[in-house]
Amino acid sequence: MTNQTPYQMLGGDEGIRKLADAFYDAMDELPEAATIRAMHAESLTDIKEKLYEYLSGWLGGPHLYKEKHGTVCLTDPHKPFAIGPAERDQWLLCMDKALEKISASDELKAMLKGPFYNIADFLRTRE
Ligand code: HEM
Repeated sequence: MTNQTPYQMLGGDEGIRKLADAFYDAMDELPEAATIRAMHAESLTDIKEKLYEYLSGWLGGPHLYKEKHGTVCLTDPHKPFAIGPAERDQWLLCMDKALEKISASDELKAMLKGPFYNIADFLRTRE
């Protein structure tokens, strides 16, 4: 076992940036994620930046999202969207693919599986 934070295990700021980019690239490419892709703007540039900022703090690095947006609460931004179990699972699939793409270690993937499930499930807006 390691004492490192996920942020450190991903290689710090650059690794978080790669993860956020790979996540939305996966959403853009995977037919299985078409429902949640359609909820997003055509350009994914801004949302890549926001996810990067969010994950930086959430994974144990600098709290970029909090500093910029004043909160870490994601409930309000997700309220307008119909997010049920299928949409949650599409999100998690994109994250699995992204972690794969950036060659995250098995240890890190195992560490993050539960927490990612919990936050995605928490953001559901319907059964
Ligand atoms: C459960 C399935 C999820 C779906 C379907 C979903 C979908 C969305 C959508 C449609 C937006 C708005 C995009 C826009 O403004 O153009 C959004 C925003 C965002 N999502 Fe999610 N999301 C999910 C889960 C998550 C999770 C688990 C995280 C973090 C770990 C996350 C992080 C964010 C962030 C940081 C924003 C930007 C919020 C802001 O406007 O400041 N999302 N999401």
